[in-house]
Amino acid sequence: MDAVMSEDIKKELGRLYREEFGKSPDIITSAPGRINLIGEHTDYNGGFVLPVAIDRRTYTAAGRRGGDLFIAFSKELSKKTSFEIQPGKFEHSNFWVNYIKGACSLLNELKPVKGLNFAIGSTVPRGSGLSSSAAYVVSIIEAVSRLYEIPLKDIEVPLLAQHIENEFVGVQSGIMDPFVAKFARVNTALLVDARSLEYKYVPISDKCSLVVCVTGVKRALATTEYNKRRQQCQTAVTDLSAKLQRPLVSLRDVTIDDLQSVKEEMDPMLYARAFHVVTESQRALQTVDALNKEDLGLVGKLMLESHMSLRSNYDVSSPELDTFVEIAEQLEGVYGARMTGAGFGGSAICLVDADLEDELSAEIAAKYKDRGYEDGYVFIARTGGGSQIERA
Ligand code: GLA
Repeated sequence: MDAVMSEDIKKELGRLYREEFGKSPDIITSAPGRINLIGEHTDYNGGFVLPVAIDRRTYTAAGRRGGDLFIAFSKELSKKTSFEIQPGKFEHSNFWVNYIKGACSLLNELKPVKGLNFAIGSTVPRGSGLSSSAAYVVSIIEAVSRLYEIPLKDIEVPLLAQHIENEFVGVQSGIMDPFVAKFARVNTALLVDARSLEYKYVPISDKCSLVVCVTGVKRALATTEYNKRRQQCQTAVTDLSAKLQRPLVSLRDVTIDDLQSVKEEMDPMLYARAFHVVTESQRALQTVDALNKEDLGLVGKLMLESHMSLRSNYDVSSPELDTFVEIAEQLEGVYGARMTGAGFGGSAICLVDADLEDELSAEIAAKYKDRGYEDGYVFIARTGGGSQIERA
């Protein structure tokens, strides 16, 4: 997305806000969507992740309205909602409203939050595994906390966002998405230790580009299956703890040698899940080394290994995602490809030679259509920065 597009959406949101609420917003904030380069389904197991924010963002225009009423307008959904918040009580609404209500309710526990108007718009494709929900909730938290001068530490922003998604929306998501939405920097990936929450920036070479392949498949079972994977990992931890005869907090505490020593005694499905998590977390660290050495061939190889493991061991890929990866890996100039995000549809990413980005993205898109998939599309993503105040 170029600067013009981001200016366009800010203007459009300001206009919508004035149309809806009869005055200008007090603040506009934004937060980015993301791709995850590698380290998939590791965050809720205390492992390593390596996400990159992209230049698609969600914008929240907000202003005080006085009184107890909150009114929110979503540009993408063309829907308006109103609600009040009550301390210690949360009444569920529909999906998109729960995020706003959850943010206002939680922040109200820290410092009183009075009625607000919101107009929210986004260039992050929804339901595509590009973390539109974290971009959305982080931009809301930033707007409300600034407007009411709620002193949040930086780290509290992703933690609150995760809490909202876990408790009020019902997805047991990990910390990765809101973390990168808050802390990302352009031209870098963010290595996050999901256990300690320590992080570091890893430069991405300008010799490569990221191509995002959106399958166009709605992730119908995503929430149920995602929560199920979390549960399976927890069961694996209990099982491994008994078999290895030592206390384990998460799969982070397990090595490959540990796993192999009890392989024969384990349920094959649980073994496969744990095997994915342990090896994937290592791949994330190996990818950091490869990026530091600008060894893009090795980054690509690790991405492909990650995809294969997500497909066979973790069982979260889909025919559409596999098709994108299959197409990409046969093309000269593609370093590697894999599904990104939770899976079950959503998007794949390809790391490609920067000089060939246009030709390769067009070719991948055309070949995907040739395979009979009409709804997918492909775009070149530039890296983005973390959440920010666009206009105060
Ligand atoms: C979703 C979740 C993240 C992470 C990924 C899988 O994007 O929100 O916390 O678990 O799936 O890696």
